[in-house]
Amino acid sequence: MSISKTAFTFIFLAATFAGPSYGTESPDPINADTFTCLSDMTRVKHFFVDNLEGDLEATVAVANAPDGGTYPEGSLVQLVPGEAMIKREAGFSPATNDWEFFELDVSPEGTSIRKRGFAEVNNRFGGNCFACHVKAAPQWDLICDNNHGCDPIPLTRSVIATIQKTDPRCEPVELSDEDKANLEILKAFAAPQSS
Ligand code: HEC
Repeated sequence: MSISKTAFTFIFLAATFAGPSYGTESPDPINADTFTCLSDMTRVKHFFVDNLEGDLEATVAVANAPDGGTYPEGSLVQLVPGEAMIKREAGFSPATNDWEFFELDVSPEGTSIRKRGFAEVNNRFGGNCFACHVKAAPQWDLICDNNHGCDPIPLTRSVIATIQKTDPRCEPVELSDEDKANLEILKAFAAPQSS
């Protein structure tokens, strides 16, 4: 009796503290097909947004707000094709302001999810998404930009623009000489480390 009670307690606690989980009644709606060619999303400044709940206007409003704000549920934010943040329902992951982090693999065939989760997700260079993004001043809701207080990434805005233009899921676009020079720079990052 007491053994099964202990086992029950253990299972219950494990389930409670394992972090966010997806209940069987409501299957997780986010999968590889959630992600698309960046230029099919809405550009705000130097990054791209969408809203999976249909409230794109609310997401764009926060992204453009000069003093920051809290992104609405369903917000999808991307700087580069291989990394994404999605704002989950309120209370889903309080430690990460309800943001879920995604590390994606993209190819002309589409997107696959390499890793997803909360504070534990690292990018392909071994950097922890949350550890960098949590350094953004609180009013920015973990959005870094290049002046919100996050550790910087080793990519100039020009190189980032080239990465965005060469998303393999999008129709090819003509590249400028600057883009071509940037692609050379990117070869230095060509060997991703597993993390
Ligand atoms: C070394 C710190 C660092 C790590 C690690 C990191 N990021 Fe970022 N991230 C940044 C910075 C800095 C920017 C803004 C760059 C700019 O605007 O020029 C950024 C931009 C972004 C953006 C665009 C919105 C914004 O915050 O400006 C998204 C989305 C994003 N990162 C997701 C991720 C995900 C997902 C991971 C992990 C798979 C990750 N990042 C790992 C520092 C980091």
